[in-house]
Amino acid sequence: MRAMQIPSDHPLLLSIVDDLAACGWSQQNIFLPEALTLELAAECRKRAAEGELAPAAVGRGPTQEIREGIRGDHIQWIEPGQAEASDTYLGLMDSLREALNRGLFLGLEDFECHFAMFPSGAFYKRHVDRFRDDDRRMVSAVIYLNSQWLPEHGGQLRMYLKDQGQYDVLPVGGQLVVFLSGEVPHEVLPATRERLSLTGWFRRRGNEPF
Ligand code: OGA
Ligand code: MN
Repeated sequence: MRAMQIPSDHPLLLSIVDDLAACGWSQQNIFLPEALTLELAAECRKRAAEGELAPAAVGRGPTQEIREGIRGDHIQWIEPGQAEASDTYLGLMDSLREALNRGLFLGLEDFECHFAMFPSGAFYKRHVDRFRDDDRRMVSAVIYLNSQWLPEHGGQLRMYLKDQGQYDVLPVGGQLVVFLSGEVPHEVLPATRERLSLTGWFRRRGNEPF
């Protein structure tokens, strides 16, 4: 994948900003070009095959623990320079960060993200993406990496929205969901096949609690 960039005033990014301002969340059915989605999926599978994905923990700091009854995904944090596809994605998210700062004055300083693989049957119980003792996470962004996902495969992201009630999103490849981290409780329902995603958080400056 050649380096790909989009300006922070791209219509796709502006529509995400507008959605967040209006109702706190946004769904973009076709956010990534198919080639990049496939490359990210391949990169996620390669890391899984090399044993680099580890069971995700719940909480942070000293109280962090693995609890499969709460979340059963395996993750690896993404750093710059690991792969071309993930670098391209980080670049796109940096443009979105600028767009969010310009449109919503959020003062977002960075973006942290990880690959996530939910084995068949795994789930993530209802939660909010903000820690009790650390409120730096402002905006969550999840991109799905699955080809040919059908409703009978399950694995929906179920959001509990203030005005619209319960809303389900199928983890269809190339689709992006963005929401305000502190305001949208959500869960991942179990799927009948492996479910790949790349989940990240835009953060504002804050004091490390530990
Ligand atoms: C998370 C999460 C949602 C999804 O990792 O915090 O809620 O659809 N992921 O993968
Ligand atoms: Mn979450």
